[in-house]
Amino acid sequence: MTAPGTAAPTLAEREAAALLPVYRRRPVEFVRGRGTRLFDADGREHLDFLSGLSVTSLGHAHPAVTAAVTAQIQRLVHVSNLFLTAPQVELAERLAVTLGWPDGRSFFANSGAEANEAALKLTRRHGKRLHPAKVKVVALQGGFHGRLLGTLLLTGDPAKHTPFQPLGSWVTHVPHDDPQALEDAVDDDTCAVWVEVLQAEGGVRPVPAAVLAAARDACDRHGALLVADEVQTGVGRLGAWYGWQTAGVTPDVVCLAKALANGLPIGAIVVRGVAAGAFGPGDHASTFGGGPVVAAAANAVLATIDTEDLVARAGEMGRRLTERLADLGANNDLVAGTRGRGLLQALVLTAPVAGEVAAAALQWGLVINDVTPDAVRLAPALIVDDDDVDAMAARLAGALAQVEREGAGAS
Ligand SMILES: Cc1ncc(COP(=O)(O)O)c(C=O)c1O
Repeated sequence: MTAPGTAAPTLAEREAAALLPVYRRRPVEFVRGRGTRLFDADGREHLDFLSGLSVTSLGHAHPAVTAAVTAQIQRLVHVSNLFLTAPQVELAERLAVTLGWPDGRSFFANSGAEANEAALKLTRRHGKRLHPAKVKVVALQGGFHGRLLGTLLLTGDPAKHTPFQPLGSWVTHVPHDDPQALEDAVDDDTCAVWVEVLQAEGGVRPVPAAVLAAARDACDRHGALLVADEVQTGVGRLGAWYGWQTAGVTPDVVCLAKALANGLPIGAIVVRGVAAGAFGPGDHASTFGGGPVVAAAANAVLATIDTEDLVARAGEMGRRLTERLADLGANNDLVAGTRGRGLLQALVLTAPVAGEVAAAALQWGLVINDVTPDAVRLAPALIVDDDDVDAMAARLAGALAQVEREGAGAS
């Protein structure tokens, strides 16, 4: 309630009073989205090159997802996993096809961290069946796998661990670009090796093929499972259904989330081979996981990516994105280069001003984020076209020039 004569609090002020302060939010309220465009409360149009952190891959308000969700919500929303529901089974079947794993079996959760957590339990269960001490995990420095207590320990960023210690000591982190260090870290007590083929939150950093090959080799030699966290890279974003498909190694488990249901909360693991026998009834569960509405959305997403050939399009548009970012670099002293591939790329800066660049981009009607202090991430929807990529480049050029003009200051 507002007392007479006093101004009503802004949404930002209400947020500060009502929510725990874990997010540093930009001062914009989005109220609507369509395709690659977002609209704020003042009616201003923004070009979305972040996709809600690599989530809305079909763009906003995609009619196929809207239709599938609407039809399912009118029919049945929830019954729990004590009963059969067709959308969930169909989704598991579709995932097995996109992975090329006829024996692939899925478990559904509600987020990327939950998917990784499920994989942690599965790999530990698998290891302990082989021998009781086989519970250790090797992961990469700079990797990000979530913020639950298990996935936080798995995440290769000590600064994120410190406030929450003790987290345990069953994870060893090795450099993301050192195959020998990885081979040396894996032994007979290792139940799993965890990799992202491209470290997204870690700064859009591709992991060298030699490291992925070393991970596969070490797992095979020591009876461990290779887990590919494709929460951010999967479902077409890199110009392949899954990043590992271009890396020449096949994991035993993939973790998925983000783009799978175009913005509805979902997480999934898909497991192949012997590892698919690790869980039995009661070993893991989720009340909401893979419920009919989110599964219907995900089925619509996978069908649309398939029929509209969006995986190939992501590769094609990714090449245009690389070119436009390189052009920007050629004309701007603030730009050091680019990283990434497909539709997950970073513009690397010569100074730690990524926050300022992202803030300026918002003023220019472009949504991106500062993935590290010196790099901004671009992760547009898979439906972007040439005009969108060119418009992004024009707006980002304006933002970079503004930051150069104003100098590093407030973001
Ligand atoms: C590779 C990867 N794994 C796991 C997660 C955690 O996902 P969520 O935020 O849905 O828990 C993320 C989130 O950015 C991610 O990029």
